[in-house]
Amino acid sequence: MANKRQTWGTRLGIIMAVAGSAIGLGNFLRFPVQAASNGGGAFMIPYFVSLFLLGLPLMWVEWTIGRYGGGFGHGTAPGMFHTMWQKNRFIKYFGVIGIFGPLVILIYYTYIESWTLAYSCFAITGRYATATTEGAMQSFLKGFQGLESNSYFSGIGPAYIFFIITFALNLLVIYFGIKGGIEKLCRIAMPLLFICGIILALRVLALGTPDPTRPTWNVINGLGFLWNPDLGALKSAKVWLAAAGQILFTLSVGIGVILTYASYLSKGDDVVLSGLSAVSMNEFAEVIIGGSMIIPAAFAFFGPENILAIAKGGAFNLGFVTMPLIFQKIAFGGFFGCVWFLLLFLAGITSAVSLAQPAIAFLEDEFNLTRKKAVLIFGITTFILCQPSIFFLGNGVINELDFWGGTFCLVAFATIEVILFAWVFGMERAWEEIHHGADMRVPAIYKFIIKYVTPLFLFFILGMWFAQEWIPIMSMKNVSETDRPFVMATRILLLFLFLALAVMVKLAWGRKRKAVNR
Ligand code: ALA
Repeated sequence: MANKRQTWGTRLGIIMAVAGSAIGLGNFLRFPVQAASNGGGAFMIPYFVSLFLLGLPLMWVEWTIGRYGGGFGHGTAPGMFHTMWQKNRFIKYFGVIGIFGPLVILIYYTYIESWTLAYSCFAITGRYATATTEGAMQSFLKGFQGLESNSYFSGIGPAYIFFIITFALNLLVIYFGIKGGIEKLCRIAMPLLFICGIILALRVLALGTPDPTRPTWNVINGLGFLWNPDLGALKSAKVWLAAAGQILFTLSVGIGVILTYASYLSKGDDVVLSGLSAVSMNEFAEVIIGGSMIIPAAFAFFGPENILAIAKGGAFNLGFVTMPLIFQKIAFGGFFGCVWFLLLFLAGITSAVSLAQPAIAFLEDEFNLTRKKAVLIFGITTFILCQPSIFFLGNGVINELDFWGGTFCLVAFATIEVILFAWVFGMERAWEEIHHGADMRVPAIYKFIIKYVTPLFLFFILGMWFAQEWIPIMSMKNVSETDRPFVMATRILLLFLFLALAVMVKLAWGRKRKAVNR
């Protein structure tokens, strides 16, 4: 007998869950890095264009495909794609990306999520209080990550303990299911996250000019750096690629997770207003809260000349070195530091559980496993898969996983699903499907955007990538000699993971065929 599929408890619950999936480390760490290293104001125009031409339409597309596929008992892309194009035997294999991508993100994301939990404890206990310079704070981070043995840490032990706690917490939420685990978590975590974010944003805005001898180093100029538009940069393909990539990552579209969440809706549930609400919450968290924190604070404390260098240092540097240093310089820094890392942790855990759910849904729906069995298999497999990110962090493994899982797959998957939806399923049918049970109508222009503009935009991004980045990436041009074997091993691992999932799809469909013929 088939498992009875789970459902969401309330409408607010699913909106919170989708917003929880979207609002993640990407909002508070990735966004400031992308914005600052792409020229601040220069980044924001392509960012908003991408939001309206890619992010928002894809959000509606994914909610709709998810609800449609869920109606046939499928919670992941292979089954959904197959129901949308039944005559095509191969389309389900394209859907594998929608399970593979989130899994690949999850196996490095969990480790970073665990740092945020660790650092919120460190902030409140004053563990890093003696690290008062940038160099010292970097040593603290490296010591914690096990990249060097120093006066702060002699090994990776503490980081590993926090990883296990975080991993177990994620698993526990998933074990309790959609309504009892994910929805419950998000209903508590999301309001808490917004409270933390607003406290921090207000604190940063109140910084004013921290050093009166440097009057231009202030929060207002920091905000200006982000908001003064630079039209000249619109000609730069790199800035467009970065902005579009950020929109997909931050909204969690093109990953596969929204499909899974929406599969637990019923046919008459609204997707239009709910999708819009989730996008709005994410953008509020990213642009208003996220945009009012790191960049203005770093600008006020380190000045315009250094902001680029800080951003170039990457998201970890910004979140785990620059921010704690800033909090050391203000009153009640331990408290604000704890709030900052707690914010990151809440953002992280609500996204991590969404990244896990497609694989769980796949096991439950296509192999008819109980949740308990699915969580057990998933737990053992992902625990093993997480290890390279932990032990080979210094060898480029996370960057490699992030490129395939967090960048390439998103664009590839988004392209496939939007073409399938608008061109194979058919735009007229798709439009009708979007509006089933809808509380508002999607503006008519989106019929045109979903059919033509979004796919063309995605093709443009894919084309630019192939033209500009394919050869350097495949030849590992920017990877050091020492890291190459590790990057190569990561690629081989990913290839095996993808093939294993494809074989599982084949087996699942084989079983179904046999059951029908019996
Ligand atoms: N959307 C999630 C984030 O921004 C994955 O971190």
